[in-house]
Amino acid sequence: MELGIRGRKAIVNGGSAGMGRSAVLSLARAGAQVVVSARGEERLVTACEEIAAQTGATIIPVCADHSTAEGRAKILSACPDPDILVGTCSPPPMTPDYRAIKEADWHEAIDISLLSPVAFMRDVLDGMVERKWGRIVNIATVAAKYPGEIRILSGATRAALANYAVAVSKVVARHNITINNLLPGMHHSAFVEKQFNERAAAKGITYEQEVSEFCRDWRIASERFGECDDVGDWVAMFCSEQGNYITGQSLVIDGGATNSLF
Ligand SMILES: NC(=O)c1ccc[n+]([C@@H]2O[C@H](COP(=O)([O-])OP(=O)(O)OC[C@H]3O[C@@H](n4cnc5c(N)ncnc54)[C@H](OP(=O)(O)O)[C@@H]3O)[C@@H](O)[C@H]2O)c1
Repeated sequence: MELGIRGRKAIVNGGSAGMGRSAVLSLARAGAQVVVSARGEERLVTACEEIAAQTGATIIPVCADHSTAEGRAKILSACPDPDILVGTCSPPPMTPDYRAIKEADWHEAIDISLLSPVAFMRDVLDGMVERKWGRIVNIATVAAKYPGEIRILSGATRAALANYAVAVSKVVARHNITINNLLPGMHHSAFVEKQFNERAAAKGITYEQEVSEFCRDWRIASERFGECDDVGDWVAMFCSEQGNYITGQSLVIDGGATNSLF
């Protein structure tokens, strides 16, 4: 499908792995030029080289921590006038006991998961308004909408992010700019595999058995986790020309784990 974004300039923050990487691949397939940030250089450069070879698109790695002002400046200097902004990060740590969450944990989660995407949106929106075109997608979490103790740092920060994004989407919609959020549930990723291998080892069961128990306990209707690779095309659809009338939305991608009629 032609998405109408050939030649558009994109920034994907957190794009060397998981859903961010999937977004880079889908945007590159659609013909966008993509600046990709991540902290770890080796994985970032490898991902960008692989995606460039696969798609023929221009993919520029920027090794930077997007939760810092210096990191954000470095990323924006590589693409000062993006048409598309996609933001994500590694999932914040699990919080099995709310009493054990320290103030420093809050500050770190807020910097990475909330203040960083907020700063990026603020910095790129004036240019999008001038050019009368823009697409912003935040890859957040279903825990923003359906709170649970184990995902407090992830959910609370992204509930605030979704709130901000939807509020700002109303202001800029008349300039042909859309802002949407994706709210993923459980997906196989390096982070999830590490966590679930540790949980499985502690119980003396396999990774597959631990995933299966989790699906049962959390009533994931699909009875499985999703694949990060499937998420990128949804990002690209939100960034497409066809997506011009969808804004201020938060799309849950969770295999039917949560119940909400609308
Ligand atoms: N996987 C799941 O099951 C799941 C479930 C619910 C929600 N989510 C949400 O979905 C999003 C993506 O998760 P994922 O599983 O795809 O994560 P992932 O596989 O850990 O990938 C995260 C990406 O972001 C980069 N990154 C992290 N912090 C960064 C920073 N401060 N500056 C620049 N780059 C940074 C990572 O590279 P470096 O580490 O090298 O920086 C990596 O490229 C997260 O917001 C997560 O909370 C995931």
